[in-house]
Amino acid sequence: MSEPMLAAAARRRPHTSDAVLIDSNENPLGPCQAARDAMAAILPRGGRYEDELTDELVATFAQMEGLNPEYVYATVGSTPPLALSVLAFTSPEKSYVTADPGYETGMRTAENAGARVVKVPLTKTYAHDVKAMLAAGQDAGLFYICNPNNPTGTLTPRADIEYLVANKPKDSIVVVDEAYIHLSEAANAFDLVKAGKDVMVLRTFSKVYGMAGIRCGFLIARPDLADKVLQHGLRNFMPVTAVVAATASLKQPNLVPERRRINASIRQHTFDWLTRNGYSFIPSESNCFMVDTKRPGQEVRDAMAKDNVLVGRVWPIMPTYVRITVGTEEEMTKFQTAFQKVMRA
Ligand SMILES: Cc1ncc(COP(=O)(O)O)c(C=O)c1O
Repeated sequence: MSEPMLAAAARRRPHTSDAVLIDSNENPLGPCQAARDAMAAILPRGGRYEDELTDELVATFAQMEGLNPEYVYATVGSTPPLALSVLAFTSPEKSYVTADPGYETGMRTAENAGARVVKVPLTKTYAHDVKAMLAAGQDAGLFYICNPNNPTGTLTPRADIEYLVANKPKDSIVVVDEAYIHLSEAANAFDLVKAGKDVMVLRTFSKVYGMAGIRCGFLIARPDLADKVLQHGLRNFMPVTAVVAATASLKQPNLVPERRRINASIRQHTFDWLTRNGYSFIPSESNCFMVDTKRPGQEVRDAMAKDNVLVGRVWPIMPTYVRITVGTEEEMTKFQTAFQKVMRA
């Protein structure tokens, strides 16, 4: 179960091609031009496995981040390494500890594996409550930290992540999911991996790089930890299109700062509008945020869908909130119109 499947499961009705899709945390800009060109150019070689292209991607990323390439594994998006990490490190005896509200893929995988799922409410500042996670997860196999968090888009201070890593039970690991990190100013957790801690980091090209439909990501981990994950899958060739698009994207020096700026600017305009109109929301550092509809959130989703604006799902712990993905300026204008209409009804 990954974001599009979760979004599709929560979608109430089929949508038309002109619908505003701000329900799955996608990037409306899509892949950058260099990535598109690289994909078009590789097509004639699509009859070959071309695994050296994956080596080049890994080497490019490792060099940029000062990582040992042996700690970097290219994956088909970050859903497979997330799910397989859960299979590798949780069991009926080893629980899965996560934030609430939090991203559901790991929870669903852990449930299927018969592991206890421990959901720990976020703090008042919407950070992961690492002390409560530790207290509730003495039998933990895996602590999942999503930074920024999905669905709130809020950050967990670096010191809290370090505290969790320093105080966790000996045989457990910490997975830091950095799917949205480029959209924030937060520091990544690569140094913890480099320092040999029991930490694995997940990255995806689905968000800032706009490649959700192309499928590329990374597992960044100590080889002994990664080997445990690889026993459950991932040993396969990467699609050449995804690999060359990812490499080309990494080589665009302005892509991440420029897209971070665009997202932050549209997000701020939306927040300004919500504030001016008296709506409550949780300020976010990501491409999604939670807005409080002060009524069952699902009703608002259903009503907005009638106006062809599909907004994100509702988390049981925050039943009056819906998650909104930051779309284009034009999409967010349509969101405002539909939201105002539904809220005034
Ligand atoms: C927090 C988080 N992790 C992982 C993923 C998986 O994305 P993908 O498999 O497209 O890399 C998503 C998708 O939305 C996500 O929100």
